Amino acid sequence: MATLISDTAPWKDLKAHVTDIGKTHLRDLMTDTDRCKSMILEFDEIFLDYSRQCATLDTMSKLFKLAEAAHLKEKIASMFNGEHINSTENRSVLHVALRASKDTTINSDGKNVVPDVWQVLDKIKEFSDKVRNGSWVGATGKSLTNVIAIGIGGSFLGPLFVHTALQTDPEASKTAGGRQLRFLANVDPVDVARNTTGLDPETTLVVVVSKTFTTAETMLNARTLREWISSALGPQAVSKHMVAVSTNLKLVEKFGIDPNNAFAFWDWVGGRYSVCSAVGVLPLSLQYGFPVVEKFLKGARSIDQHFQSTPFEKNIPVLLGLLSVWNVSFLEYPARAILPYTQALEKLAPHIQQVSMESNGKGVSIDGVRLPFEAGEIDFGEPGTNGQHSFYQLIHQGRVIPCDFIGIIKSQQPVYLRDEVVNNHDELMSNFFAQPDALAYGKTPEQLQSENVASHLVPHKTFTGNRPSLSLLLPSLDAYRIGQLLGIYEHRVAVEGFIWGINSFDQWGVELGKSLASQVRKQLHASRKKGESVEGFNFSTTKLLTRYLEASADVPSEPTTLLPKI
Ligand code: F6P
Repeated sequence: MATLISDTAPWKDLKAHVTDIGKTHLRDLMTDTDRCKSMILEFDEIFLDYSRQCATLDTMSKLFKLAEAAHLKEKIASMFNGEHINSTENRSVLHVALRASKDTTINSDGKNVVPDVWQVLDKIKEFSDKVRNGSWVGATGKSLTNVIAIGIGGSFLGPLFVHTALQTDPEASKTAGGRQLRFLANVDPVDVARNTTGLDPETTLVVVVSKTFTTAETMLNARTLREWISSALGPQAVSKHMVAVSTNLKLVEKFGIDPNNAFAFWDWVGGRYSVCSAVGVLPLSLQYGFPVVEKFLKGARSIDQHFQSTPFEKNIPVLLGLLSVWNVSFLEYPARAILPYTQALEKLAPHIQQVSMESNGKGVSIDGVRLPFEAGEIDFGEPGTNGQHSFYQLIHQGRVIPCDFIGIIKSQQPVYLRDEVVNNHDELMSNFFAQPDALAYGKTPEQLQSENVASHLVPHKTFTGNRPSLSLLLPSLDAYRIGQLLGIYEHRVAVEGFIWGINSFDQWGVELGKSLASQVRKQLHASRKKGESVEGFNFSTTKLLTRYLEASADVPSEPTTLLPKI
């Protein structure tokens, strides 16, 4: 049987090393200039400072030994070589091929997949150009200036993150002029209302995005918007107003979307790793034009190359991944806060939540052995400074949460006001620079006493400090840099999974809830249509369902179509 990483000598050595680190405080570690110097590095103008991690140079060398024991180098190579590292689904994991340059060769099952990738990219370029320049029009001859992308999970969160980040980028906002991109994800009819309100079907293109084309939420939303279009423009309008992105082109056709208007991707792209496929590239190209999206792909590619070829000591995703493992598995800090100091990255944390928690939230090793340690971490986050006025209290004086601070040197949208002490971006960045030190150093009772703080308040105003964080400073936030940020987080998550020895590329944990929901769906159907009583559930669920059905008895059992009206 394969060895668990926790049985190896480097893991045990790190366990023992926790006691050494327990005797240190970041206040002191930060005075060691040589240590700090070696914990700061730069790649392509991305500046990483991890000197505020509760780690010494000794910790780092032990982590590199752990990487060796986990065969990290070999596992990274296996991913890039297209081996079936997603063993429970018997698939390769090749999201890196989605952003490879045309002349690259990346094989999956003995076939170079890069030409297929570019065939779809070229098709997206052509189609999005036509829609944007008005040579592809709607059923009534009007230009399609609005896009609603229907999809959930990986078919939604990545594209939403990139769209939100691009919206205020000067170049992208110019190319998006006069166009709207919206996302319909939740099966909640309220989400349908929110995303159709103010839009005219005549000028709207719907993109149905689903890897499987079977996801219940997405398919009901797709049927709902098909009705929204055909009830306004007639059923023949669907072919002009609905296109699809999927790996399941047969089901796309069955749904009634012309296969010529379907954009393929492949089973070697995991849902949460699919933003660089047609899943993200199509809606984003419709909104911003293909050249902007190509820059995003190039950014992700630059990190792929860095990740694949840079020695671990200077490799950003590897360092970040190893430090996360250190924080989670050894220092036993189960959460991580993602704190971008720019509103443009407000959807980064929700996207990384899926990338990280769906990938690494596992309880068994890749060989199916129950893990004797916790894998995965709890990711959450908000842009600074909003988070500071929300949950930072807990981060400063309550639980220890390792933080990722992400700062941007040049704001997408600078504001200068005469008579202000600093410009608006400098004001924001003052917080970006201050928070990591506040967390690391804290404030001692002695300091408070020397400030004549009333003695009964001293315990309340004391900050223990020694709270780890890392700082990533990017020169700007354009399409290229957004791609880089994505690549850094995707590969960091992979590194963590490779070290823990789990399969970061399957997601069996989402299945149970889905199958129980389909049992409930059957019951709701039987009760509404045939008046059948609730049966086959436990006492609690029976009570809840009965209450729900009784209190909504006015729902018609044979409804005529009703769409939101706001
Ligand atoms: O939530 C489970 C999941 O399978 C995710 O992994 C995926 O991103 C999402 O559902 C959507 O799946 P699809 O793209 O097949 O509709």
